[in-house]
Amino acid sequence: MDPIIQLENIRFKYQEDDSSYALNDVSIEINRGEWVAIIGHNGSGKSTLAKTINGLLLPESGSVKVGDYILSEENIWSLRKMVGMVFQNPDNQFVGATVEDDVAFGMENQGVPREDMLVRVKDALQKVRMSDFAAREPARLSGGQKQRVAIAGVVALRPDIIILDEATSMLDPEGREEVIKTIKEIKDESNLTVISITHDIDEAANANRVFVMCQGELIKEGSPEEIFSAGPELIELGLDLPFPEKLKIALKEQGIAVPQEYLTEEGMVEWLWTSVLKK
Ligand SMILES: Nc1ncnc2c1ncn2[C@@H]1O[C@H](COP(=O)(O)OP(=O)(O)O)[C@@H](O)[C@H]1O
Ligand SMILES: [Mg+2]
Repeated sequence: MDPIIQLENIRFKYQEDDSSYALNDVSIEINRGEWVAIIGHNGSGKSTLAKTINGLLLPESGSVKVGDYILSEENIWSLRKMVGMVFQNPDNQFVGATVEDDVAFGMENQGVPREDMLVRVKDALQKVRMSDFAAREPARLSGGQKQRVAIAGVVALRPDIIILDEATSMLDPEGREEVIKTIKEIKDESNLTVISITHDIDEAANANRVFVMCQGELIKEGSPEEIFSAGPELIELGLDLPFPEKLKIALKEQGIAVPQEYLTEEGMVEWLWTSVLKK
């Protein structure tokens, strides 16, 4: 085991007079090269946790260790360089007029020499399979392509850790799949550590471990298999059920008898045709 993130007994409040903690005694350990999914209801503290890991927020008590740095006011910038973040809304993440300008932006801020920068832009765009779009306007890309460009901007900064904070939640299924596939490839290539905050079961299923947050606390931790065998409780944990399962619940509420077993989308279509629509 090679821990790259260690949080011990973190407590955090946004305002001193808040009645409850946004993070309440949270301890986690994540190993280098691991993929961890964080799930939980809106407001459960997932984004706050992410911002604590990259030093955007300083906890009231407890310790944050990322790589060799124990977070303090002095090393906050070194720590922050280790962690790249990709956020929810693809349209809020662009600053450049072209895709390649955009990918270069973060490096300009970090003072990366121009020659090095050009190499890194090219390399990062290749990693997210967006090389052909280098000279395009970001606004004209699809949601999935935009998020891949955002990922390229982060990858170009060579972080050890990448945090996707609901980065696929505004994408269509195809866009989600593109983004997850891209992250997987980059992770395998460079031993990146990935934290994906998500409501999407397919995204969470890619993780080595799943953490469940509830009201500022880490209430459950396990392999995707362990967590998902909880069945209908998934909704309570803040995950979206797969579409056929949601449809089954809706049909049942209408008094229609539905099959017990898990149906894929194809299976659902088949069953609808043969059992429901023919009647
Ligand atoms: N900037 C902020 N100022 C004050 N309270 C906040 C702020 N951001 C989040 N909160 C509160 O902290 C709690 C955790 O929020 P958050 O970490 O954003 O949850 P999640 O990402 O799981 O939806 C919530 O009660 C939320 O209302
Ligand atoms: Mg959030």
